[in-house]
Amino acid sequence: MIETPHIKCNKEDISNVILMPGDPLRAKFIAETYLEDYKLVNSVRNMLAYTGYYKGKKITVFSSGMGMASMGIYCYELYKFFDVKYIIRIGSCGSNNKDIKLLDTILSTSSYTETNFSYTYSSVDVHEVESSKYLNNIILNKDNTIKQGKTVCSMVFDAYMENRDEYNKRLPKDIIASEMEAFALFYIAKMLKKEAACLLTVSDSLYDDTKISSSDRQNNLKHMIEVALEGSLEVL
Ligand code: HPA
Repeated sequence: MIETPHIKCNKEDISNVILMPGDPLRAKFIAETYLEDYKLVNSVRNMLAYTGYYKGKKITVFSSGMGMASMGIYCYELYKFFDVKYIIRIGSCGSNNKDIKLLDTILSTSSYTETNFSYTYSSVDVHEVESSKYLNNIILNKDNTIKQGKTVCSMVFDAYMENRDEYNKRLPKDIIASEMEAFALFYIAKMLKKEAACLLTVSDSLYDDTKISSSDRQNNLKHMIEVALEGSLEVL
């Protein structure tokens, strides 16, 4: 049994490939819907994690919580103490681009941030980091309709910013979507010489106020989860 400050789990109970939703209950949903012989392997702080079998291969679904701080803690501990090699974040995002529509699935090829995450973590001032080309190619081979591009990672939920227009004007022009965890994941993966990818479904848009139905949202999530699971099989 390994006990880190935030995870209590047998090392053998963690696969070297992790799917990482933000929401602990989504981790439970994925285990219940897709995995066989699954078991709960972490419940410290209710950051639920399950390990089971997908098409006969052992895979772990571990929730990250919200924001770079929480993601940074879990991906660091999993890479460092549990010998995890690959983490695929599966989350939601807002669209920053007219061509990125509600319910699209997108792949983050790099994450930009205004924050000082890299400076605090490793005393270097880096504001953009790429995801794993190796994992991205595998994912795109499963579904070549997925849109890809640079995403922005913020420390404040952008809808709650006091001056969101000013914030958006400061960002690089080629950003397609906005979320809150990928920079921490990609940066720590790079520092620890591991691999990370990030698939996102578009749940909000700067250009479209349409409310999406829960069934559309669910179907969309399922598509993203299935692409991530099928991609995982290639590295297991
Ligand atoms: N902004 C940041 N993170 C998000 C969003 C958003 O609009 N939607 C889902 N996660």
